[in-house]
Amino acid sequence: MLHQLFRTKSLDAILHEGDAPETQLRRALGSFDLVMLGIGAIIGAGIFATIGTAAAGDAARPGAGPALILSFVVTGIACGFAALCYAEFAAMVPISGSAYTYSYGTLGELVAWIIGWDLIIEYAVGNVAVAISWTNYFKTLVAGFGIVIPDWLSTDFRTAGKIPGLFESAPHLFGIPLVFNIVAFGIVALITVLLVIGIRESSRANAGMVIIKLIVLSFFVFVGMKYVKPAHWIPFAPNGWAGIQAGAAIVFFAYIGFDAVSTVAEEVRNPKRSLPVGIIGSLIICTVIYIIVAAVFTGIIPYRDLVKVLATQQAEPLTLALQYANIERWGDVAVGIVAFGSVVAHTAVLLVFQLGQPRIFFSMARDGLLPQTFARVHPKYRTPHVTTICTGVAVGVTAMFTSIDEMVDLTNIGTLFAFVLVCIGVLILRRRDPGRPRAFRTPLVPLVPLLGIGSCLYLMTGLPWITWVRFALWLTVGLGVYFLYGFKHSHLRRTAALQGRP
Ligand code: ALA
Repeated sequence: MLHQLFRTKSLDAILHEGDAPETQLRRALGSFDLVMLGIGAIIGAGIFATIGTAAAGDAARPGAGPALILSFVVTGIACGFAALCYAEFAAMVPISGSAYTYSYGTLGELVAWIIGWDLIIEYAVGNVAVAISWTNYFKTLVAGFGIVIPDWLSTDFRTAGKIPGLFESAPHLFGIPLVFNIVAFGIVALITVLLVIGIRESSRANAGMVIIKLIVLSFFVFVGMKYVKPAHWIPFAPNGWAGIQAGAAIVFFAYIGFDAVSTVAEEVRNPKRSLPVGIIGSLIICTVIYIIVAAVFTGIIPYRDLVKVLATQQAEPLTLALQYANIERWGDVAVGIVAFGSVVAHTAVLLVFQLGQPRIFFSMARDGLLPQTFARVHPKYRTPHVTTICTGVAVGVTAMFTSIDEMVDLTNIGTLFAFVLVCIGVLILRRRDPGRPRAFRTPLVPLVPLLGIGSCLYLMTGLPWITWVRFALWLTVGLGVYFLYGFKHSHLRRTAALQGRP
């Protein structure tokens, strides 16, 4: 039994699966598309919504203050180690399952299942958080045009309980107030339709959105720079290292996404070259942008004033900073432009994550660990439409009823865990199969993977205990599903049985 659970799939067999005509995806993407896809996935709710809390802190954790800049550096370095490991695997095994596939080839079926199940947290749960944050910014944006979206149609039930008067003003059915975030569901539904239609169309839409968000962040930096006062950077780290670490664990959310590039591996023309470029390139570009934005943000609004504003205002930190700067002319326009950029940025993240999740399900189904219908490819569009639609419905419905904070912490722990396993996978494969051609080699092995493992575990310790409990529960449910379905239907196990192997 133990032998069956840890049976690995041959990497050559994995590579051949991508060639099967009935499940073949369209190879339409180049290096530039991948860098854009990476930036599309990375810059979103993290920079536009979480840096206020990271700098100011909240009831449960100290703030980083201006040392938010260092939090970004710390997390950027941790992600850099993981990205180098991802790049080696992605170039060697350019198959759409990402970390799931890499673990199948190195750590065995059970670990692969765990990681596949864990990636649902990164992509689907992460997207739930982004969809909820999208709703907040969208409301602010349309409010600028005089359109008011009622709170009962744009809030989850539990958050509504904290907003005075909302339950009373909502319509009632059998005495129960009707409150759900239909706006979040709507944006997820729209994106799902786009993704079923085609990878090339989705990638073009993404490129357009990436350009807009880069322009808007540059706009923030250039307009904001004039209002930066170096005195606001002192004291630099008001809560010392504790604040920097807590900030780093929060802004990790801002970095998630460079790894999503690996999920479109089967749709890339020259994966061996383009995947490392896409993964590492997008991470470097975003790290530089984040550090600059963090410097401008903390230079405009001093820590002592930031801690005084409401948590809801901290959740829109860039517009808050511009309002604080009190720009004489065109101030409202500047705020509107940043709000618009934020909505676009969130949309791009939603798009790439909604693209990644179905491709992981798709790979798992192809291995027999999930029902076969999940491995179907649309006859006309050549996209994994069944998993795309299932993901869209699950994310959209969950976003209607859940709150953002829980979803962000859960996403961070799940993703950090995936990074740890990928780093371990690189170490194992270097030992077990040293001669395999590696189009990209992680430098300084074993040092870099070990540093990756250590730094990701360190960031995980910065998350609240309740997040650990939720994570453990999620993995337990996953194990149940595996033993009830995946273990029995695994193609690897069936093939071995047919060949008379244990
Ligand atoms: N990195 C993504 C974001 O910040 C998840 O929205």
